[in-house]
Amino acid sequence: MGGGAREHALVWKLARSPRVDTVYVLPGNAGTESLAQQVDLGMEDRAGLLRFARSEGIDLTVVGPEVPLVEGIVDLFEEAGLSIFGPTQSAARLEGSKVFCKELMCRHGIPTGAFRVFRSPQEAEEYLEEWEDPVVIKADGLAAGKGVSVCHSYEQACDAINTIMKERIFGSAGDQVLVEECLVGQEVSVLAFTDGRTLCILETCQDHKAALDGGEGPNTGGMGAYSPAPFVTPTLQARIEREILVPLLHALNVEEIPYRGFLYAGLMLTEEGPKVLEFNVRLGDPEAQALLVRMRTDLVDLMEATLNDKLHEVSIEWDPRPSVCLVLTSQGYPGAYATGHSITGIESAEAAEDVVVFHGGTARRRKRPITAGGRVLSVTALGEDLQRARSKAYEAASRIHFEGKTYRSDIAASGLTN
Ligand code: AMP
Ligand code: GLY
Repeated sequence: MGGGAREHALVWKLARSPRVDTVYVLPGNAGTESLAQQVDLGMEDRAGLLRFARSEGIDLTVVGPEVPLVEGIVDLFEEAGLSIFGPTQSAARLEGSKVFCKELMCRHGIPTGAFRVFRSPQEAEEYLEEWEDPVVIKADGLAAGKGVSVCHSYEQACDAINTIMKERIFGSAGDQVLVEECLVGQEVSVLAFTDGRTLCILETCQDHKAALDGGEGPNTGGMGAYSPAPFVTPTLQARIEREILVPLLHALNVEEIPYRGFLYAGLMLTEEGPKVLEFNVRLGDPEAQALLVRMRTDLVDLMEATLNDKLHEVSIEWDPRPSVCLVLTSQGYPGAYATGHSITGIESAEAAEDVVVFHGGTARRRKRPITAGGRVLSVTALGEDLQRARSKAYEAASRIHFEGKTYRSDIAASGLTN
């Protein structure tokens, strides 16, 4: 389920499994057409989804994005006796409510930035009058990656609070706001399979969230990613496991929240050590694209082990070569942008060895791909080293053309200087 580049990558990986005969995707995009049967159903059509899974005898349903998880699609399928990969609604609150997540971390001593929760804009603003440093304002609920503002002045912070609580651009997701300490350091994404007892951690990865080079400009869903992140040494990885992931699993167990699925920790590597920015309950986009091209183990085996509480019996084999994923966006993203521009050069980009172009916001017009979203394509390359993977991705991206094509020129650069 899903229609972005992460879902194209999931479909691509699932379709390579010798255990898979047919993949169905909804809604999919222009890139998934050759790999999967597109299903004409909305993700919110719960009765239709159940009927479809039953009538087609779907053996495993995989959910890409957070919204259906937070709305309880897994509970619905499980109650109907259908196999589905992802956490239940109560576990998905980890991503669905930032307040819930922060309070859980506090109760269990998981390192994260200091914060306060406010239900009224006046109280939040009064509190901010005392504050001098940069501050981060977050809407409590889901906001498609747009509910977070890093603010460098009192005025900026008040604007962010107004947008969330007075203009209510995220609706009820903005009933509460978090005012959070601004953390400084390298950001890293740590993803894992978990069955609630065992963690099977994926290779490390860094996402670039800001729209512009050098980490400037507004936050986006992600402008590019690369794997592995070389500054996450084995010692640091062990520390992240010990101080963050294992305590989280313990917290979920103590609070009787069963968890099966992907777990994603967004971390800031601060001078005091790794701290949690957020937990997500799914794969990241574009992290999934950078990781799945490196994964050699059959994804179906890993998902099945998760669902059967057998993760302790499996391990993941990786392509040792680094990957770089470069996201090509429509000019204006993450703000307003035009769609419907024709896209050329994808075949030429993919002609290079170990280059895959995953589609995000694309559709077809008279059989030809056109832009249909903000993050249009994820150009993903493997190389002998990070430098070569990076050059290959940029070279492939230069072969693709559409009006308004925009991308960062420094994806993976942070991995070369470290
Ligand atoms: P989140 O959705 O909470 O991960 O926030 C999106 C992005 O905002 C993160 O990936 C960071 O780049 C940035 N961010 C979130 N919280 C903080 C924080 N406390 N300090 C600095 N940057 C943050
Ligand atoms: N790339 C960040 C996310 O998927 O949330």
